[in-house]
Amino acid sequence: MAKVKKPTSSRAAGASRHPDIDSILFDGDAISARVKEIGRLISKDRAAEPFTLVPILKGSIIFAADLLREIECPCGLDFMGVSSYAGTESSGSPKLTMDLRENPEGKNILLVEDIVDSGYTLTYLINVLLSRRVKSVGVCALLDKKDCRRVPVRIDYCGFEAPNRFLVGYGLDYNESYRHLPYIGALKPGLLKA
Ligand code: PRP
Repeated sequence: MAKVKKPTSSRAAGASRHPDIDSILFDGDAISARVKEIGRLISKDRAAEPFTLVPILKGSIIFAADLLREIECPCGLDFMGVSSYAGTESSGSPKLTMDLRENPEGKNILLVEDIVDSGYTLTYLINVLLSRRVKSVGVCALLDKKDCRRVPVRIDYCGFEAPNRFLVGYGLDYNESYRHLPYIGALKPGLLKA
């Protein structure tokens, strides 16, 4: 009789380490627990006034989708796309690849980022939004690479502090690969092209 395979949860099934990953820094369970906590905080802080969640494409898509499901007060959803990295280096001049559908004037905006590194991307976006006369702009970032900051940025909700390593997974990419990994890990240094 053929052996019946034990069912595994999708999180457990996806948790085996990809061969290009040196080490897993935040596994699916740790991320999920932290996203729930952040969702609860946002729900508590922001219940009084309407706000619009604005995930920054593409890296924040998975974080934002999970976070949205943990927010218990009504919020709008719109998107902005920005890109500044080719390989491991920030160009230092982010480019808007997609703009908001709705006029943000007078609105409370909460930007959702996967990672803050140099801070150039958020600084650029916050300035764009302020020039459009938003009522307020806040930041929720899953990962904060504090040691890499070139320009100061205020993060209102932060998932985890991250070391100065090249991280991929849970939306973060290296040359458009690895976004699908259900955890956040450091890429093997030998795979990074200078
Ligand atoms: C990444 C990330 C942030 C930005 C952070 O985006 O998603 O938006 O870099 O880096 P910074 O603080 O040094 O500006 P990327 O340009 O790689 O685009 P992507 O999100 O489409 O992958």
